[in-house]
Amino acid sequence: MAILVTGGAGYIGSHTVSELLDHGEEVIVLDNLEKGHREAVLAQTFIHGDVRDRELLDQIFRRYDVEAVVHFAAYSLVGDSMKDPLAYYDNNVAAAQILLTKMIEHGVKRIVFSSTAATYGEPRQIPIQETDATEPTNAYGETKLAIEKMMKWCEQAYGLRFISLRYFNAAGAHPDGHIGEDHDPETHLIPIVLQVALGQREALSIFGDDYPTEDGTCIRDYVHVMDLAQAHRLALEKLRETGKSGIYNLGSGTGFSVKQVVERAREITGHPIPTRVAPHRPGDPAVLIASSQKAREELGWRPQFEDLDTIITTAWAWHRSHPNGYRKEEMRG
Ligand code: UFG
Repeated sequence: MAILVTGGAGYIGSHTVSELLDHGEEVIVLDNLEKGHREAVLAQTFIHGDVRDRELLDQIFRRYDVEAVVHFAAYSLVGDSMKDPLAYYDNNVAAAQILLTKMIEHGVKRIVFSSTAATYGEPRQIPIQETDATEPTNAYGETKLAIEKMMKWCEQAYGLRFISLRYFNAAGAHPDGHIGEDHDPETHLIPIVLQVALGQREALSIFGDDYPTEDGTCIRDYVHVMDLAQAHRLALEKLRETGKSGIYNLGSGTGFSVKQVVERAREITGHPIPTRVAPHRPGDPAVLIASSQKAREELGWRPQFEDLDTIITTAWAWHRSHPNGYRKEEMRG
């Protein structure tokens, strides 16, 4: 029996594929490589194609004995989603609708879904719990929430079983150093900070230093990508064992400010990492911290790379060995 991983060439997808392979799973990756990287795919079976391609999905489900789907393939940039929400509805919601339709048609009834803290919007309490209100403040979060709801109705109507994992701030890289984070354009804090340390950027723009936090910069809950990968594997096991659907936050339960991240990165890289203060980025809440109690209790999630130094150290190892991301290999190839 195989696991179909859509978006398995992307950042979190590729690390999850690595984790699944390490635990003896048979993995098939489907990715259109719009954002993902062929070099990041460790699975033997790679299918270059789009989730919205109904015929391709028919072929995959006919040819392989797919037991469950882990669905990453999606757009995930908050800013872009505000400029072009319809592209997000197409690539995220419409694609999920097609994928779920084909899964049901072919009798595949388990899915682990890549969701986000952006489903909550501005938090009403910290730490955020799964039972808190979901009022996304951007189209990206809205599309992920729409898919969660679609899966809920599919459970009632067709017996689909789903686990939705709401990530907070994914960061870090595989400790082996062979896969890591490579976005173009890069918008995330830790890789940008490390690009400054590598001399690829002059300075970090801190998006606001007058938030109601201790040092005035935004606080986020950084969670290591390998710990996210572990959670996907555990979610699959949970679906197999109990057939029980659920929604789970994945974060460390600890928040760090932008300035604290920069401070730790200075220490780890030995680089001064200059900063300058820039205007607020629209839609940035001051503080986002997850309660991951439920994932720990129900999935048995045990993060292994929890502290910020480990996150930055593994990311730094990846950035130093791959200063151009996967492009170096692409050029060689
Ligand atoms: N930041 C800067 N300068 C930068 C980049 C980021 O100051 O150049 C700040 C942001 O303002 C924010 C923090 O660093 O306060 C983290 O920003 P990221 O862009 O790394 O991450 P976000 O918190 O904006 O978003 C991430 C994911 C989203 C997800 C969200 C949920 O990218 O998909 O976490 O917490 F929805």
